[in-house]
Amino acid sequence: MVKFQIKDQNMNIYTEAEEFQVRRKGILLAGGQGKRLAPLTNVISKQLMPVYDKPMIYYSLTTLMLCGIKDILIVSDPVNVDLYRQLLLDGKQWGINISYAIQEKPEGVAQSVLIGEDFIDSSPIAIALGDNIFHGNDLISLLRSADSLDKGSTIFAYAVRDPENYGVLKFDNSGSIVDIVEKPKKPPSAYAVTGLYFYDNTVIEKAKELVPSHRGELEITDINIKYLNDKLLNVEIMGRGIAWLDTGTIDALQEASQYIRTLENRQGLKVGSPEEIAWRQGWINDQQLEKLAINLSNSFYGEYLIKLLQFEIKDSFIN
Ligand code: TTP
Repeated sequence: MVKFQIKDQNMNIYTEAEEFQVRRKGILLAGGQGKRLAPLTNVISKQLMPVYDKPMIYYSLTTLMLCGIKDILIVSDPVNVDLYRQLLLDGKQWGINISYAIQEKPEGVAQSVLIGEDFIDSSPIAIALGDNIFHGNDLISLLRSADSLDKGSTIFAYAVRDPENYGVLKFDNSGSIVDIVEKPKKPPSAYAVTGLYFYDNTVIEKAKELVPSHRGELEITDINIKYLNDKLLNVEIMGRGIAWLDTGTIDALQEASQYIRTLENRQGLKVGSPEEIAWRQGWINDQQLEKLAINLSNSFYGEYLIKLLQFEIKDSFIN
């Protein structure tokens, strides 16, 4: 992959991957039932819930944008897909391309690969779960390094207090990963697999081989196990300097809001703003950012975007 350096508006220099011959695409999962958030989710999709000052889906969308991904497929249920369309449009306002696909029933995260087969075409992909939030200092370099691997898969693991609610890594005595166990009653480690997965294009054939699990879903863990068996699974451990929040329960949703509120109020910088990230990536220019800001000008969010232009807020390029 060819790389070049660009300067952002604040003269921060960072390295941007030049257009790939085959550029990685992103699939963002915004379906599911959200049963754990009922009654909030009785009539509206979970990923539209607010996490402090923006819709939940902004966070996973900007995670993909921070990877440098510009072609993104939103997979949603038939009822909510139009709401996502109204919210995110075609992405051009942020210098990206957003398209939409319907998942008729929540039959598993891995089903998104089959739904998105035409969209994926011959590209490598990243899949992001719309209810996962990542934040932290080393995040961008971790994402970019996963993006730069052409072959195989990269997944991220994170130590949690309640591994039984996730896919969990099993290590052998030498510390090598030998299995991933989905929602185990007795977790073999504290390391949960997070909701962000990087795959090469063989993910399509792997997804086609899957059979539904006992809960009737095509499991993303089964795809990961296929890569593990092929010795093509790269697992990156996210350390304690990175926050991984999953917003699937009422308490987790509140905690995530509180976390974002605390950070944003302390620093005066926003986490997960697609406008800001597009601008810092050089995907939109000052005039385009100004236009977006003016449309939001009665909100603190809009005021923040204006301030970015006025005061050239110099923070590093961090979500
Ligand atoms: P989950 O949290 O596993 O499921 P859910 O969102 O339906 O919530 P609940 O368990 O409370 O009923 O889903 C993780 C993410 O993946 C979430 O953002 C929704 C998304 N998802 C889909 O888009 N389609 C699916 O078929 C599944 C299982 C999940």
